[in-house]
Amino acid sequence: MTAGPAGRRDDAVGNDSPLVEVERVSFAYQDAAILEDISCTVGEGEFVSVIGASGCGKSTLLQILDGALRPDSGQVRVAGRPVATNRSDRAMVFQSFALLPWKTVLDNVRLGLDYRRRDLSRRERNELAAEYLDRVGLIRAAKFYPYQLSGGMQQRVGLARAFAVRPRLLLMDEPFGALDAQNAELLREEVRALVALEQRSVVLVTHNLDEALELSDRILLLRAAPGRVEEEIPVRELRADTAGWRQSYDEHRERLWSFLKGEVAAAQGRDLEDVS
Ligand SMILES: Nc1ncnc2c1ncn2[C@@H]1O[C@H](COP(=O)(O)OP(=O)(O)O)[C@@H](O)[C@H]1O
Ligand SMILES: [Mg+2]
Repeated sequence: MTAGPAGRRDDAVGNDSPLVEVERVSFAYQDAAILEDISCTVGEGEFVSVIGASGCGKSTLLQILDGALRPDSGQVRVAGRPVATNRSDRAMVFQSFALLPWKTVLDNVRLGLDYRRRDLSRRERNELAAEYLDRVGLIRAAKFYPYQLSGGMQQRVGLARAFAVRPRLLLMDEPFGALDAQNAELLREEVRALVALEQRSVVLVTHNLDEALELSDRILLLRAAPGRVEEEIPVRELRADTAGWRQSYDEHRERLWSFLKGEVAAAQGRDLEDVS
C-alpha cells in the first residue's frame, strides 16, 4: 500500500490495511463482460485516478466501489467491511451534477447527508449542509434552485453535497468533464484544497491526463473489453522531485497518452467489427 500523508485521520483503519480493498472483482451487464478480475487498493488519504477509453467500465467500477452495483464475483471492502454494509463512509460526485431540480440548493446538499448520515440529527445535517455550501462560496444561493445556477456553480453544489458527508472515500466520475475550461480549473483548485484540508481518500475518473498527473498519488490504467487494470503508475514522487520534475512529468504523460491512444484505436477496431 502507498503510505498516506502525515496527519491522517484518527480513525484510520490501521497502518497496513488500505481503506479500500478490491479483490478479484468481475462484473457483466447481461452477457457483456465489463470488468474482469480487477484487484486494487486505495490507501487512507491517497488520491487515485483511473484512466481508460470511453466505455471501458470506469463508471461501472465507481458504482461498485460505492456499493450501488454488486460485482458478480470478488469483493470490495471499505474500512475492512463489505462495501454494502455501510454507506456513510463514501460519497460520489457526478459529471452530470445529479442535482434534484425541484429542491433548493441547500436541500440538495442536505440530501447527501439525509441519505448517507442518518447517524446525525436533522439539525446537525442542516448545519453541515450550510457549512459546506459556504465553503464552496454559495451560501448566498442556498434558497436558489439548480436551474438558476451556472454549470460551474451546480458542480460546486455537487462537491458540497459530497464533502458535507465527510466521507472517508470520495468517488468522482469525471467531475469537471461538463464544465468549460476556466470553471474546470477553478473547481480543480477547489477539490485540491478540500482534499488537502480534510485528508480524504479519493478515486477520480478522468479523461484529462494533466489533471490525473497533477492531482494523484497513483494512476490506474484501465484496459477495455473486458476492463482490467493494465498498470498502476505511482506519481506522488513526481511532485516531490523538483529538479527532474518537468522531464519525468513529460515521460509519464507520454506513457499515459500512448496507452490511451492505443485503447481508443482498439475500441474503434471493435466498433468496426461490430458493424461489418
Ligand atoms: N445499464 C447498463 N446496461 C447495459 N450496458 C451498460 C449499462 N451501463 C453501461 N453499460 C455498458 O458497459 C460498458 C461500460 O460502461 P461505463 O462503466 O459507463 O464505461 P466508462 O465510464 O468507462 O465510459 C459500456 O460499454 C456501456 O455501454
Ligand atoms: Mg463513465
